[in-house]
Order: sequence, then C-alpha cells, then structure tokens
Amino acid sequence: MKKEAITFAMTGASGAIYGMHLLKQLVNIYSQVHVLISDAARIVLATEVGLKIPEAPAKIKEVLVEYCDCDQDKIAVYAKENWYSPVASGSAAPKTMVICPASMGSVSAIATGASNNLLERAADVVLKEKGQLILVPREMPFSSIHLRNLLSLSEDGATIMPACPGFYTGPKTLEDIADFVSARVLNHLGIDNDLIEKWGYKGK
Ligand SMILES: Cc1cc2nc3c(=O)[nH]c(=O)nc-3n(C[C@H](O)[C@H](O)[C@H](O)COP(=O)(O)O)c2cc1C
Repeated sequence: MKKEAITFAMTGASGAIYGMHLLKQLVNIYSQVHVLISDAARIVLATEVGLKIPEAPAKIKEVLVEYCDCDQDKIAVYAKENWYSPVASGSAAPKTMVICPASMGSVSAIATGASNNLLERAADVVLKEKGQLILVPREMPFSSIHLRNLLSLSEDGATIMPACPGFYTGPKTLEDIADFVSARVLNHLGIDNDLIEKWGYKGK
C-alpha cells in the first residue's frame, strides 16, 4: 500500500543530486509528492545536474515527471506564493516534509518562522502541526549562526540530517554517494530500503 502524501522541497544549497535522487524514490513510495523548488535551487540544479528547471509550476512538473519516469498525478508543483495550495495550511498539508538540500538561507528563515514564501510556510506548518520535518543542510564550514539555527530547529522537533555521506559502504559513483543520503532519509521516514547495505549484515 502506498504511503500518504509527502511534501518535498529543494533549496539552493549544493547537493542537488541528493534531492533528485531522493525524489525518484519518494514518487514510488508515496501516493503524491507535493514539490516546492526555490529559485536558487533551480540555479543549482542547472549548475550541478545539468537539469534546466523552468519557472512555471506546470513546466517544472513536466520536467520532474520525465526525470522520475512517473505518472503525472504523482507530482504536484506549486509556485512560491501559492497560498491556496494544500501545503500552506495545517488543515490540508501532509504531516511529513523533507528539504533536501537545505540552504542556510532557508534554514534561517524556517528557524525564525519567517514564512516569506510557500516553502518556508510549508515547513512552518509541519512544525506547528507537530509533524515530521527533515532537513538535509549543506554548508562548509558552518558558522555559529548556522549552528544556532540548526540547533533551534532540532529543539523545535525537526530532524537535522546533514549531507554527510558515510564512506564505509565503499561508494564508487556519485549515485552511490547520493544513495547513502537517500537511504538514511528514507530510514527516518520509516521506509525500509536496500539502497545501501545494512551495517552488520554483510554476507548474512
Ligand atoms: C552553485 C551554488 C551553490 C550554492 N551552495 C550553497 C550551499 O552549499 N549552502 C548554502 O547554504 N547556500 C549555497 N548557495 C547559496 C544559496 O543558493 C543562496 O543563499 C540562496 O539565497 C538560497 O535561497 P533559498 O534558500 O531560497 O534556496 C549556493 C548557490 C549556488 C548558485
């Protein structure tokens, strides 16, 4: 049975491959994926993955459906000021949201409850409704400001899963590295997966 809907967001941190890799998994697991992509994320996607993401939500959806090779109704994409979308209200929003990758700018806005765009508002809604918010931040180094914001979000119930792939699985490709991050996020969503070998089970 498919899991209920999830909100998935990408912001303008490096590591767009993690987000796209994870999205491919989510469309096979959830009945629907509500997608939010910041303008900066579109730039990073073009720079790092070579994926040109248009601005209009309907066009973004076309690109993502093709990339994920999934049914049209699997993915819903909303503009950054679409306050009438389900993710804008606690009465309709999925209880689960993943932001991968998460930029320090969006981390800061979410930590302070700014809700200046739909992505920030959607995260704010998940926190206020006591749902599950997972952030995959990426920056190097972290300043004290970044660390304080991340701590604040952790204390408010978010799960901070930095894009720090382990190398004990012997990754050979970028996809293997992205699999590691996706696998750990899926674990926290309660989804068993074989993307990486489970520690301690080798050869068993
Ligand atoms: C190629 C590229 C890589 C970037 N990498 C990072 C990063 O790793 N972490 C980060 O916090 N910001 C990074 N930035 C800067 C953010 O995109 C920028 O602060 C932006 O305003 C974030 O907006 P958003 O949170 O709405 O996506 C990067 C920008 C570009 C163009």
